[in-house]
Amino acid sequence: PQVCWLAPEQTAGKQKPYMYTQGQAVLNRSFFPCFDTPSVKCTYSATVQVPEGFTAVMSATSWEKQKDNTFIFKMSQPIPSYLIALAVGDIVSADVGPRSCVWAEPCLIEAAKKEYDGVIEEFLAVGEKLFGPYVWGRYDILFMPPSFPFGGMENPCLTFVTPCLLAGDRSLVDVIIHEISHSWFGNLVTNATWGEFWLNEGFTMYAQRRISTEVYGLAYTCLEAATGRALLRQHMDNTGEDHPLNKLRVVIEPGGQMIPEGFPFFLGVNPDDTYNETPYEKGYCFVSYLAHLVGDQNKFDVFLQAYVNQFKFQSITADDTLGFFLEYFPELKEKGVDSIPGFEFDRWLNTPGWPPYLPDLSPGKQLMRPADELAELWATNSLNMEAIEAVDISAWRTYQLVYFLDKVLEKSPLPEGNVERLSKMYPKISKAQNAELRLRWCQIVLKNNLEAEYSKVKDFLQSQGKQKYTLPLYRAMWGGSEVARTLAMETFSATAPQLHVNVQNYVRKILGLK
Ligand code: BES
Ligand code: ZN
Repeated sequence: PQVCWLAPEQTAGKQKPYMYTQGQAVLNRSFFPCFDTPSVKCTYSATVQVPEGFTAVMSATSWEKQKDNTFIFKMSQPIPSYLIALAVGDIVSADVGPRSCVWAEPCLIEAAKKEYDGVIEEFLAVGEKLFGPYVWGRYDILFMPPSFPFGGMENPCLTFVTPCLLAGDRSLVDVIIHEISHSWFGNLVTNATWGEFWLNEGFTMYAQRRISTEVYGLAYTCLEAATGRALLRQHMDNTGEDHPLNKLRVVIEPGGQMIPEGFPFFLGVNPDDTYNETPYEKGYCFVSYLAHLVGDQNKFDVFLQAYVNQFKFQSITADDTLGFFLEYFPELKEKGVDSIPGFEFDRWLNTPGWPPYLPDLSPGKQLMRPADELAELWATNSLNMEAIEAVDISAWRTYQLVYFLDKVLEKSPLPEGNVERLSKMYPKISKAQNAELRLRWCQIVLKNNLEAEYSKVKDFLQSQGKQKYTLPLYRAMWGGSEVARTLAMETFSATAPQLHVNVQNYVRKILGLK
């Protein structure tokens, strides 16, 4: 399942085939023999021969092309197996900074360069200022074919990203800042087991928002964080707050070897099945809570840098992290901050449910309030068109629109006829090309049974295969009307072959095909 072979029609250029690998979480064992656990790190080298007219790229600190289309790669820093990645295709590169280039198929390279020219270096520099040296040499970005199942994957030296990021206006750059943040949290300091995935993703969300605050300011970053909180709310509503995956430390049963007769439950848990919003956004809340305990942003930044320095090139558990935190701040340890009733570290880690502490996002209020108010207006029975028309959304940033649409979705189904009018009133939303807006619009269309726009759901699912876009839409279709269910079946039979096998399997499960 780890090596994805794409036919020419599954690429942007539709001329040549493509192949890529996706290691996280435990897929690289089907790529090459390895200790496929994040607790083991090693350097690697690889020799890759490709046919004429193709280029190979890897997550490596150095590479050279030799004769006979042979590429030699070396990763000189120890990394866990899941970060070894290879892609081969008709790809070219263009510089976007002193240590960064973008790689893409020739037909996308101009757009790719335009999206990120001149901005990457600032993110790296701010990251270095906050968290210490960037040890990986280069930071390049590879734009993947549309079926790539993630927004981004932090393969060291070479982040893989979905082509959905090519929005034309840099509006989805938070994904790049996120993957850059993994250069310290995840790639340098690594979770020792997938049961503590939040150590990678929660710290990375925190680091991402620190960089974002420095570059784009607190108001915008709080707005982005509020959309993250909405995702956590949706996830917990879907699964139930008490679901065992809604704790930061999840139990991943090994299983497999000894299945007691009559106990088919001990088949083991695939770490990929634990991928959800909890490690990201509840993890973010926990790290924010630690910062809140410290009470001084600068002191906490310095702590994070010391933490990276202490555990770089190692794989650790939450006990290491929290133990180091308490050693670093002895006054907090003395106060017993790890056992304040309701906020016990143990509760954060081992109890499912909504985070006991939420960071204050009110600095984003100036951007959220107009969106809150507009959503309120659209949710009323008899629309006050005068008030609605008085709100000018033409200058709103993408994340303001995302926030607005999440509010509309929360309030859906809206009173009869409102969504049709909303659709007509804001072609900027209902005809958007931006993937984050398209996802929300499709969710709203489904929740309001707006059959006239069902084709947009199919078009969106046909245009890309990101797991976080695909699964919520299939869940919504399957939980909807007969017509929506039929749409789900039709869409899946048309698109299944182009989806990543993992995503295919998850959709099959949703549709009861497995
Ligand atoms: N490492 C993850 C992607 C991943 C997670 C792959 C689990 C396989 C298993 C990556 O850093 C990530 O979190 N990507 C997000 C970006 C977002 C949070 C800004 C994504 O793809 O949506
Ligand atoms: Zn991540």
